[in-house]
Amino acid sequence: MRAIAVSALRADPVLVELPKPDPRPGEVRVRIEYASLNPQDWQAVDGSAPAPASFPFVVGVDYAGRVDMIGGGDNRFRVGDPVFGRAGAPGTTGAAGAPSACGTYGQYVCVPQDSAIALVPRGLDSRTAAALPTAGMAAAQILEAVALRGHETLLVVGAAGGVGCCLTQLARARDVRVIAAVRGDERAAMGSLGAAATIDLTDGVPADALRDACPDGIDALADLASATPEAFAAHACAVRPGGIALSTRGAASGAQLPEGVRGVDFRLDPSPVLLDVLAAGAADGILRVPIDLELPLEKAPEALDRNRAGGARGKTVIVLHHPGHC
Ligand SMILES: NC(=O)c1ccc[n+]([C@@H]2O[C@H](COP(=O)([O-])OP(=O)(O)OC[C@H]3O[C@@H](n4cnc5c(N)ncnc54)[C@H](OP(=O)(O)O)[C@@H]3O)[C@@H](O)[C@H]2O)c1
Repeated sequence: MRAIAVSALRADPVLVELPKPDPRPGEVRVRIEYASLNPQDWQAVDGSAPAPASFPFVVGVDYAGRVDMIGGGDNRFRVGDPVFGRAGAPGTTGAAGAPSACGTYGQYVCVPQDSAIALVPRGLDSRTAAALPTAGMAAAQILEAVALRGHETLLVVGAAGGVGCCLTQLARARDVRVIAAVRGDERAAMGSLGAAATIDLTDGVPADALRDACPDGIDALADLASATPEAFAAHACAVRPGGIALSTRGAASGAQLPEGVRGVDFRLDPSPVLLDVLAAGAADGILRVPIDLELPLEKAPEALDRNRAGGARGKTVIVLHHPGHC
């Protein structure tokens, strides 16, 4: 099968030919139609996210496609089922404690049937399903972690990317007031997703614009962009005492936070039940997953480089097999 893989930590991801993996007992093999790109994909290669356990290491965690083979033992899926999910992170274990087989920038992946994998519901196409797992689950769990009720204010930094687009919509659906912080003028795009106000962070935190947008202060921060405690602390300054400042990039521990502000380093806890809920929302049109770019597999290395530099708008998806073609 064709795949994008690295031969060592920090090596360049390249297009390679690898044997199709065989599912072990308790696993399914998925013929992938689409994968989606997450920053974790290049972070794993760089060693700044859980590092690969073995090489060649196939990049990627999010996928959608069809079950094409079942391993031994009980299984809740059947050959031909349309599925989507998040494959185990690098370094995690697969069925029977064996190392996770491979990633999703490959034409086939084997995943445990009890992992974060779910059926694609009627009304949801596999391209959108592939864009959903990591960004959607992270957004839903971030919203739980900041514990906001309606009519409170959430500042989302890095709001125009995959997690931010989902978080803005899920928060809006709970009547939370979202202030979307982005680099550039994204007022129209973020407003259409439900942001109450959009501020431009290109030249640092615009204190006046922030005060105008939320005169009563900010109840919680979800910082999806800052990689250092210092950058994170600069955003957390805007949070009122008693509020929460959350980082998805491990920047909260070690940050000097204002008195009374609680720092949280978020960790995703993938679950098939949450995938079902998100897929139903996407199929009903309640949750929109903006897809900015669709690329053939061989363009994935360039897309990883581009994502590392910032500037993501919604999700990038990678085509592995065109749906309906065998
Ligand atoms: N801890 C966890 O379990 C967990 C789970 C999911 C995601 N994450 C992390 O959360 C972060 C956001 O994920 P995502 O999927 O939303 O990423 P994404 O789609 O690449 O979006 C990131 C957004 O942040 C903005 N940004 C601002 N400053 C940036 C900078 N210095 N470098 C890079 N981007 C910057 C980017 O736009 P501009 O550059 O135009 O501002 C972009 O819109 C990633 O680092 C990801 O690994 C962690």
